[in-house]
Amino acid sequence: MLEVKNISTGYGKKQVLFDVSFEVGDGEIVLLTGGNGSGKSTVLKCIYELLPVWNEEGKIFYKGKDITKAGTPDMVKKGIVYIPQRNNYFESLTIEENLLVSGSVYGKAIVQERMEETYKLPRLKEYRKRTPFNLSGGERQLLALGIGMMHNPDLILFDEPFAGLDEANSKVMLDEILKLKEKKISMLIVEHKETINSFSNKKLKMYLGKIKV
Ligand SMILES: Nc1ncnc2c1ncn2[C@@H]1O[C@H](COP(=O)(O)OP(=O)(O)OP(=O)(O)O)[C@@H](O)[C@H]1O
Ligand SMILES: [Mg+2]
Repeated sequence: MLEVKNISTGYGKKQVLFDVSFEVGDGEIVLLTGGNGSGKSTVLKCIYELLPVWNEEGKIFYKGKDITKAGTPDMVKKGIVYIPQRNNYFESLTIEENLLVSGSVYGKAIVQERMEETYKLPRLKEYRKRTPFNLSGGERQLLALGIGMMHNPDLILFDEPFAGLDEANSKVMLDEILKLKEKKISMLIVEHKETINSFSNKKLKMYLGKIKV
């Protein structure tokens, strides 16, 4: 599904990732763990083309195709959705409006169908007229997931879905992630606590911009 081969990247002149390689198999959940600043978010940004791969030998393959230079706008069309660690919704829009904006590249019928599917996530339909300001942290994370689900992805790059969630809300999020897994959606999930890891097919640990083996 996703093959990351020897990628190096960074910000400006500062190199952050060094020769990172791993794979996410079809329908797999791969967990990316590691301490603050180890480069987890940078891996997701690089896969999503928000940061260029610096090195000639660094390659990213998705469904067998080289997407190293595909460009971010192409990602969603290919079925890849990135849910960032922060700023993953519009503050001034309601849940409903956030979902509509996310789906605005599609026709009315598709939006309708995807909204119905997305509203199966807990609380989103009930609170659809609320802005994120009036939601709990757990509900906001569900909204971020919902915004991604509007694209009917095959692969989700999810940055810290469990951040700041208590046990009950972590369980809600985990249940939703497992439902996506049942639908054969592949996921690369960043989670630095290593606590909620029993559900994953593979666990990768980052240290100073490298995958520890
Ligand atoms: N926009 C940026 N400009 C310069 N350096 C950055 C930028 N974003 C991140 N970095 C640096 O890159 C390194 C890796 O950051 P990254 O955000 O990938 O870490 P992380 O593993 O996701 O950490 P956390 O668990 O805190 O989210 C850090 O040293 C960070 O300071
Ligand atoms: Mg991060």
